[in-house]
Amino acid sequence: MIIAIDGPAASGKGTLARRLADHFGLRHLDTGLTYRAVAAGLLANGLPLGDEAVAIEHARYLDLAQMDKSVLSAHEIGEAASRIAVLGGLRDELVRLQRSFAETPPGAVLDGRDIGTVVCPNATVKLFVTASAEARARRRTDEMISKGQEANYASVLEDLQRRDERDSKRTVAPLTQAADAVLLDTTKMDIETAFRAAVDIISRAADA
Ligand code: C5P
Repeated sequence: MIIAIDGPAASGKGTLARRLADHFGLRHLDTGLTYRAVAAGLLANGLPLGDEAVAIEHARYLDLAQMDKSVLSAHEIGEAASRIAVLGGLRDELVRLQRSFAETPPGAVLDGRDIGTVVCPNATVKLFVTASAEARARRRTDEMISKGQEANYASVLEDLQRRDERDSKRTVAPLTQAADAVLLDTTKMDIETAFRAAVDIISRAADA
């Protein structure tokens, strides 16, 4: 069983994916971390973000088990990740790793931007999780404040919109809802409601 979850930044897809994996007894991969890990490696070594060959070389040594979300969630790493995510050859390399994770029994939940369209086009179920930019910026701001970080709603909103635009407009594997994905708009839902709605959608699709 493969569950594909796509959506824009801070849509809550990561939290949902983790909970769904627990619920259905599947493994989970946050594919954003693979782009972030490569970006972090380039930044740490002072390497350019636009050099595809160098980025591919970093992707070849990526160990999915060693990716540390708490380190990789830094704002500047997310920004750099979305800049290197336009490199087609790098995407091919990362997609290979992501597919092999997805295809290992008993299956997995993968979340990202192109899971339903490119990585796992034959997934058992596809969800496209979204929320208004304002709701996403509010959640992200509250989350940062709850971790004791400084956060300004207006600049968080501006960052999210810039990243959404770059992710949706790039020519390779842009962020888009797969034709056979179910849309889950969480603007007016709390995480519990969104989780129950997702479980319903997946259970119906798996029974079909
Ligand atoms: O989801 P997250 O914010 O961690 O992703 C960081 C960046 O990685 C995104 O802005 C996007 O550009 C890129 N990404 C992607 N395809 C994926 C997952 C993430 O292009 N499947």
